[in-house]
Amino acid sequence: MLHAEGVSLEAIADTVGTPVYVYSRAHFENRYQMLLDAMAPLDVVICYAVKANSNLGVLRVFAELGAGFDIVSGGELQRVISIGAEPQSVVFSGVGKSVAEIDLALKLNIGCFNVESAAELDRIATRAELLARVAPISVRINPDVDADTHPYISTGLRENKFGVPVGQAIDLYRRAAANDALDVHGIDCHIGSQLTSVGPLAEACSHLIEIVDELKNSGIQIEHIDMGGGLGVSYSGEREIDLDEYGRRLNELIGERDIKLLLEPGRFLVANGGVLLTRVEYLKPESCAEHKNFAVVDAAMNDLLRPALYQAWHDVVPVTTPADTTAEQCWDIVGPVCESGDFLAHERTLALSEGDLLAVLSAGAYGMVQSSNYNTRGRPAEVLVDGSNFQIVRRRETTMDQLRLELNEG
Ligand code: LLP
Repeated sequence: MLHAEGVSLEAIADTVGTPVYVYSRAHFENRYQMLLDAMAPLDVVICYAVKANSNLGVLRVFAELGAGFDIVSGGELQRVISIGAEPQSVVFSGVGKSVAEIDLALKLNIGCFNVESAAELDRIATRAELLARVAPISVRINPDVDADTHPYISTGLRENKFGVPVGQAIDLYRRAAANDALDVHGIDCHIGSQLTSVGPLAEACSHLIEIVDELKNSGIQIEHIDMGGGLGVSYSGEREIDLDEYGRRLNELIGERDIKLLLEPGRFLVANGGVLLTRVEYLKPESCAEHKNFAVVDAAMNDLLRPALYQAWHDVVPVTTPADTTAEQCWDIVGPVCESGDFLAHERTLALSEGDLLAVLSAGAYGMVQSSNYNTRGRPAEVLVDGSNFQIVRRRETTMDQLRLELNEG
């Protein structure tokens, strides 16, 4: 029987119901430490990318480890503040920061704005002046390197909407340095997600270093380089990004410069520390089409969107050993949502019976955060396991939770 740390997944499903996301605290802690170790001896701050899994229970784990946070909205900022994290440990990324979001971040005194355009720089300066603050800034560089990943999650190419081209960076920094409402802190990039080779990251870093050196010559001192996130994980036994190589390359590139390194990993820290538990509702062997077997489970694309959106692969495994009498067959694991694109997995060889409990693996990142109420389905519960204990860190959504917003009940 499958366990998360010392807790049986079946016990969690029996107590909390399905679908449910289950996370392992020990996994998060181990991954955080692995990354710190790989970057040594650089002076590194890990700013956990909240967007990967923004559950308050998960954020608390990282805050306790001493992490900073990478946020992309006022909502994420409020999450981080609500767990008592230090605003100075927050970097604010994203191409579309609104006036309200900028004001909130300024009033809370966050660590750094990762600025994505000249227009945004001007807006931040104007708001800071109005609020009598000085805004700490970093310019996000678009280094135009091919991160070799899924096009939806590739962000460092010229044709992507993110960041400022290398050729415009120096001018923008000069503008920032000349503005009393702005304080130049860093330089950043994020070239994409689920990267499996170090080459593109190292190439991006060398572009950043060139700019840092050029700025230094014109009297602008950069305190930190933020390499973003993007570290790829294994979804089905494939090789992960080589962390030690990444650490080595960054140490070589940064060298003796007196500069801090920031990283914004999301997936690397949480993806393989989470599973989605789901039960088989119905089996439809060869009922719709010849040679097509459907297992209809109680989780759907609204709970875990990655397979439908990116054709992402998640391993699916039975939580308990199937009875000897159940034969293995090739199944499409599909949800109850009324779309043919509603699937969690295609063509998996499994011995399935109605009522079986399945675990969809590697669901700790970009799982719950991308869930929706499509088909008026309530979002799943979330559970955090710590040793032999587990805690419900978000209760299952009820239909009333959804209707309340439409019934004028506040
Ligand atoms: N920093 C910035 C500025 C980002 O845009 C992202 C992710 C990260 C850090 C964290 O990247 P990570 O370390 O997790 O790769 N929904 C997609 C992934 C979208 C990533 C968006 N940006 C998925 O399910 O694969």
